Amino acid sequence: MDIIEQLKALEKEMHDQLSQLTDLDGVKQLRIDYLGKKGALTQTLRGMKDLSNEERPKVGAFANELKTKLAAALDQKEEKFQAEALEAALAAETIDVSLPGQEVQLGKPHIIAQVMSDIETLFVSMGYEVVEGPEIESDYYNFQRMNLPENHPARDMQDTFYVNKDVLLRTHTSPVQARTMDQHDFSKGPLKMISPGKVYRRDDDDATHSHQFHQIEGLVVAENVGLADLKGTLEVFAQHMFGADREIRLRPSYFPFTEPSVEIDISCFKCGGKGCNICKQSGWIEILGGGVVHPNVLEMSGVDSERYTGFAFGIGPDRVAMLKYGIEDIRHFYQNDLRFLTQFQEKG
Ligand code: PHE
Repeated sequence: MDIIEQLKALEKEMHDQLSQLTDLDGVKQLRIDYLGKKGALTQTLRGMKDLSNEERPKVGAFANELKTKLAAALDQKEEKFQAEALEAALAAETIDVSLPGQEVQLGKPHIIAQVMSDIETLFVSMGYEVVEGPEIESDYYNFQRMNLPENHPARDMQDTFYVNKDVLLRTHTSPVQARTMDQHDFSKGPLKMISPGKVYRRDDDDATHSHQFHQIEGLVVAENVGLADLKGTLEVFAQHMFGADREIRLRPSYFPFTEPSVEIDISCFKCGGKGCNICKQSGWIEILGGGVVHPNVLEMSGVDSERYTGFAFGIGPDRVAMLKYGIEDIRHFYQNDLRFLTQFQEKG
């Protein structure tokens, strides 16, 4: 068979194979097999050296043309496969703009923060200022200025974490009130303040005790204020937090920094006073402590206790939140379990 025939057979053979290809790799391989350095075309053209001078240019021209034709056929096939691949990729990557977006999870205020800010807003609306102070406090401000000298037995009421003999983690936010009284200029008007924040006590942690918890203490110092003002103020607080028909009652108690001192109960918001598991069948729930500021406490801040009197109270936001939301264990607040925390987060 002469070379031209061989080349024609080669062309047909390559076209047959080309028609059966299914992907780009196949085209690549076929190009190597037929047009590569060691490919079928080169092999076939080896026979040219035996041709006559007349025949050789004809065969050469035919071979060149064939090479161009085969390359074009391969290119065409390659483009077809590339276009198909692109189309498939575009189809797979289609974005459905009608699908709902992914919801972004935003942090929300902790339940205790919510309750505290609710209480703060209430007192601010009654003209109180909000004052914060250090959590690492001196024995002097935490105890001595609260009428608790060294070795006073009532210090045991607030089991204390001491840093050293004179420095401690504050056991209540009362020292903020002493600090504020020191600064206050009574010629410009009465002092009305609340001091919110964390406090620490060496309690064993259980369902109702935590070594760290929160307080919002309040203090009013002015002329002619007393127990009746305390009662009226806390009635407003109780009704705001636990419902408009709440009543309060005062029971005698003892705190070194107030005289007289009282424990304050609210009528049970669940049973309305009939007796239930929340109020332990008594109809009343103990909710805070308070009293008339002891003259010693005023005098230590340089306040004339003949002229000025004051009342003070201590609210436990942890306990308020537990009662309000029916939470039976204080430790839930501090374990950061999202299953618990997200129950109290309004959407928005
Ligand atoms: N400081 C008191 C406590 O932590 C609470 C309190 C404040 C009581 C003001 C009476 C008056 O226990």
